[in-house]
Amino acid sequence: MEISRDIKYIGVNDHRGELFEGQYVVPNGMAYNSYVILDDKIAVMDTVDVNFTQEWLTKLELVLCGRKPDYLIVQHMEPDHSASVAVFMECYPEAVIVASAKAFAMMKNFFGKDYAERRIVVADGSIFTLGKHELTFFTAMMVHWPEVIVTYDAADKVLFSADAFGKFGALDREDDWVSEARRYYIGIVGRYGQQVQSLLHKLAGCDIQRICPLHGPVLSDNLGYYIGLYQTWAAYEPEKSGVVIAYATIYGNTRKAAELLADKLRERGCEVVVHDLARCDMHQAVADAFCYDRLVLASSTYNADVFPFMKAFIQHLTERQFQNRRIGLMENGSWAPLSSRVMRKMLENSKNLTFADTVVKIFSAVKEENVAEIEALAAELV
Ligand code: FEO
Repeated sequence: MEISRDIKYIGVNDHRGELFEGQYVVPNGMAYNSYVILDDKIAVMDTVDVNFTQEWLTKLELVLCGRKPDYLIVQHMEPDHSASVAVFMECYPEAVIVASAKAFAMMKNFFGKDYAERRIVVADGSIFTLGKHELTFFTAMMVHWPEVIVTYDAADKVLFSADAFGKFGALDREDDWVSEARRYYIGIVGRYGQQVQSLLHKLAGCDIQRICPLHGPVLSDNLGYYIGLYQTWAAYEPEKSGVVIAYATIYGNTRKAAELLADKLRERGCEVVVHDLARCDMHQAVADAFCYDRLVLASSTYNADVFPFMKAFIQHLTERQFQNRRIGLMENGSWAPLSSRVMRKMLENSKNLTFADTVVKIFSAVKEENVAEIEALAAELV
């Protein structure tokens, strides 16, 4: 794949079906992107996952047409991009690694060596010339590890954005970019919104015509749309108007309450997304909670606490700095329902949450008085 006359794509598609980063389901696989800039000097941008080293090296050979790479630019040391660094350096003994100081410290940890004789350390604003292509590096701390740099090529107006602007899904599958990019962003980078905002601010002065991320497709049209989404996500602002109902049920009674609330909200013209936390993709539920402006949590009481799936869900939210939303609570219990108190306590340090006054309190099964409470909660939320 040709990105420009001088920039070639040499990434790979992973369909082995394992969880990405040990927790994210990837039904459409995953792409590990890598690029080559061919100039007076040749730079390879990042490597690939350990299971694809040989495929990647073969693609690299084809692009090189007999030349040798001068530099390996390591933007990010997470193993989905760095696992083939050591093999590359053995294959090309003249090549030099260009990376941040923190990345070289990580190489020592991962590979037992930090390439002290074969390295160039770059920092925020460092400029590096390959010939026609002048590269500027920007540090991108915690987007999504501390050593990350992104690279702007002024000649072709290309931003090599590391994990930023990436998504789940291999490049040989069709899916909805925004849905899988949101699930990826919220899951992986969501905690670091301030750092993402800082990176976007640094890049504001660059004339970017293409974004080449380490996952997902190269973006070349309507870049303002993608950058706008990142600004919304990084600021923890809701993207859509609507209510997410996330429930954790043991015998189905809490589910009945959640579904009744969904009906009442839809009758009022509200967009509603419902997740059964024991059965859905938990990270899709988390992404939806960040996407919409209202969230209802409905949980059975369990061991004087919330049901475990709800506990995990709220932890996923709070560790990603969930904020700026309106919240409704529904609890169930057969002798001492207290899950609403626990859920509220778990959210007490989250910024700018407003709670509906109505709390639906169910003893075992939904009854007439609960229907009235659910009506009242629906009215409050719309
Ligand atoms: Fe795609 Fe943070 O690695």
